[in-house]
Amino acid sequence: MFGKFSRRQFATLAGFSALGMATPAKPEDSMVKPAPDRRASASFPNGFIWGTATSAYQIEGAVKEDGRGQSIWDTFSHTPGKIRDRTNADRANDHYHRYKEDVQLIKALGVKAYRFSIAWPRVFPDGTGAVNPKGLDFYNRLLDELLANGIEPFATLYHWDLPQSLQDRVGGWQSSETSKAFADYAGHVAERLSDRVTSFFTLNEAGRFLNFGYGWGIDAPGLKLPPAALNQTRHNVVLGHGLAVQAIRAKARAGTKIGLAENIAACLPAIDTPENIGAAEIATRELNAGLLNVILTGEYTQGFLKYAGKDAPKYTAGELRIISSPIDFVGLNIYAPQFYVVASDKAPGFNVLPFPSSFPRMNSDWLRIGPETAYWVPRLSAKLWNLDTIYITENGASADDKVSPDGNIYDLDRIMYLRNYLTQLQRATAEGVPVRGYFLWSLMDNFEWIYGFDKRFGLYRVDFDTLVRTPKLSVAFYRNVITRNAVDV
Ligand code: BG6
Repeated sequence: MFGKFSRRQFATLAGFSALGMATPAKPEDSMVKPAPDRRASASFPNGFIWGTATSAYQIEGAVKEDGRGQSIWDTFSHTPGKIRDRTNADRANDHYHRYKEDVQLIKALGVKAYRFSIAWPRVFPDGTGAVNPKGLDFYNRLLDELLANGIEPFATLYHWDLPQSLQDRVGGWQSSETSKAFADYAGHVAERLSDRVTSFFTLNEAGRFLNFGYGWGIDAPGLKLPPAALNQTRHNVVLGHGLAVQAIRAKARAGTKIGLAENIAACLPAIDTPENIGAAEIATRELNAGLLNVILTGEYTQGFLKYAGKDAPKYTAGELRIISSPIDFVGLNIYAPQFYVVASDKAPGFNVLPFPSSFPRMNSDWLRIGPETAYWVPRLSAKLWNLDTIYITENGASADDKVSPDGNIYDLDRIMYLRNYLTQLQRATAEGVPVRGYFLWSLMDNFEWIYGFDKRFGLYRVDFDTLVRTPKLSVAFYRNVITRNAVDV
């Protein structure tokens, strides 16, 4: 008995008995009896879109079915030493075959929106050229199922699964041939799916797949390019985004909305003073200069060009115009605070503070807990780039997620994380920051890239032997937020 409780918990339990009280009720008892009238709450705007998110390679499986081509992540995950738990996503969640069951999971959350991604190698197995006739069939089935269940689809066109053939032939994003191929693929998909998808995201987290995949060799395709080549590759990626925006506008139904989802470098004032807020704004612009800032302003900043020096990308004014083709919304993936800054009177106007080793984290080394990230990042972005529609396209956390002897998963740490981030997000919307929706990452545990199945971000737990999906306690938490359109404070 004593072994199961820490000394502090035991003292509390002893206190309950001393007062003649029973130990606290089981969590599910209190879950079914909400008392909304007695709780202070903070509402989100009317019409706020609640959603959840996944990506193709992380959940679909069926990597060799119906003519799908190979992607760089198939190659990478089958390369010894690349995935920590030595798994791959050949089967993953088998969502390709279980999508109907998964749509019911989405519906049970009470969300009205679902962000998923389309696998480029299913549509063009070689990246360009011949279309695989069966490629879009799966997404047609998925879309019909979502719509029949009252769930609005938000489609991402590129969540890192580049056709291997493009990597082999032209070096992937190292060549602007890939930027053009991406636009062709995006136009093709938009032409066929925009009768049911009204919002398309071009790229997911360009900053991640560039730096990790082409800079540091951690993600697929596992390259460590020198600075000049990496800067040129980044330029090809933003060019690919711009070309895709133009192709979608040309081929999709009128009224189709286009944006992208980025893991913006999250810069926060260490202490809330006007000077530090100004510094965080400068940091947001400069530390996102090669991606979001050039996309939203059509210019590489002087600071970026000076820092890059002789390694700066080669580009034309025409390319900058394409890159900054107008978009309808910006998606921000918000997880951890990355840079706490203070003002500096030396250029560029901010200093980044070091993180103490005791800074709290969730169950991933990189996932520091900084709820105010969900306030400052949308607020600073909206001001800096004059945005009128922001979606939080990902937010969520990895947690230990052990199954209790009673069969439940009491992920109180994830709930703590979500409650605090949502509270800060509500603070932003209450101040008029134009955040229109929120997509929780992720619907269910899945193949977490280099971590394999070792890290769990899902609202539903997945047993990767049986593929059974089980709701965690956070399902009830999220459903309650959605039902009330508010977070407890
Ligand atoms: C985001 C990605 O970076 O974070 C997701 O868009 C990913 O695809 C999530 O699953 C968690 O990242 P990681 O590296 O811990 O798997």
